[in-house]
Order: sequence, then C-alpha cells, then structure tokens
Amino acid sequence: MARFSLVVLCSGRGSNLQALIDASHSGTLPADVVAVCSDRPDCAALARARDAGIAVRAMRPRDFVDRAAFDRALFAEAAQFAPDLIVLAGFMRILDPAVVGQWRGRMINIHPSLLPKYPGLRTHERALDAGDAEHGASVHFVTAELDGGPVIAQVALPVLADDTPASLAARLLPLEHRLLVATTRLIVDGDIVLDGDHVVRNGRPLPAPLRLHADGELG
Ligand code: GRF
Repeated sequence: MARFSLVVLCSGRGSNLQALIDASHSGTLPADVVAVCSDRPDCAALARARDAGIAVRAMRPRDFVDRAAFDRALFAEAAQFAPDLIVLAGFMRILDPAVVGQWRGRMINIHPSLLPKYPGLRTHERALDAGDAEHGASVHFVTAELDGGPVIAQVALPVLADDTPASLAARLLPLEHRLLVATTRLIVDGDIVLDGDHVVRNGRPLPAPLRLHADGELG
C-alpha cells in the first residue's frame, strides 16, 4: 500500500518541516513528505526540502491579482501531489475560504499558543504581557477562521519569571516539533478525524484537546 503522503506549506525557517522529514526518515512517522510549497521562494524551509530530495513549489503573492488567485494557484500545485494531508508549518498567510473548504478535515496548522488564546501574531509576547503562568502550542484542523479550527492537541510549558518572548519561543520550539509529529501520526494512523466541527478519536468526540506528555504520548 502507498505510504500516507503529506504536502507541507512553509514561509520561513522550516524547523517544524524538518521535524516531519526526520520523523519520516526514522520511521517514527509512517508517512512521506512528498512536496513543500511556499509563498517565499528564498525561504530556508525550501532549502531544507531540496536537501532532503523533496519536490518544492514556490510562487510570489505579488504576481497574482488577489489572495484568492494566489491561493488557487498554490493549492493547485499542492493538489498535483494528491496528498492525504496538508500541513501548515509556519505558513504565514491567511487563507482564502474557498481553498480552506476544499481541504476541510485534510489540513492542519501548528500555532504557538494554547488556543483559543492568542490567535494571530506575537503570541509569546502576548502571553507574557497577560502574566500567564503557562504557554504552549496547538495543532488544529484548519477552518475559515484564522487559527480558529477545532484543536486536536496541545503542549504546555511553564512561563518563567525572567522569560522574554525570545526565551519562551526557544523553549517552546522543540516541544512544537514533538507535538506536530505526534499529532500528525495520529491522523496517519487513522485515529483522529474531523467530523463536522468535532475532532473525533477512535469514534468518540474529544471532550478536550489532547495533551502531549513528557513521555511523548498524546493523551
Ligand atoms: C512556529 O512557531 C509555528 O508554530 C508557527 O510559526 C513557527 C514556524 O517555525 N506557526 P518553523 O518555520 O517551523 O521553524
């Protein structure tokens, strides 16, 4: 049987992409990253993909008349690879609702906050400004609402008294990598699906997002 296939969309550094590639190669994730698509032709994520021998596709938003036209073109490229799942990993664009609808239940995003807290940008700074005792990251199914789709799983970490946005981001990043791989694995295994607005695990709606534990398990 063909392996489960992923297309990953990135705009920047690509460390979450790298975690997926590494997990695919090591066998932790029984899936292949078949292509990486980007809105930034020069981004580091595309270099990581090329280094791993993965197909890349990039196009610039300014070459299109509007958001809908760009998204149609980018997702048409992604669709050529017939992925089982699209993963947004540091893809820094708001999506046109039409493409979101086409991929509903087959597209996830990793976001650096404990959603529903802090959708959008500057999440680490906002958590610090609010005096939060904990911060974290979420993986959710993508819907038309920015960072608003049903949350599958989260990882949390304590905020320290001397944390800065940069220190918090640096401590969170390796946890994000583990969260993204573990959550993607549950989807690859067929344990997690989106049913209407509910995340369903093995036939039962999740009462709350799964949490990543220190042993790497989601529960
Ligand atoms: C991560 O913090 C991710 O949660 C957010 O953007 C960042 C991407 O980092 N959506 P990288 O490009 O995967 O290194």
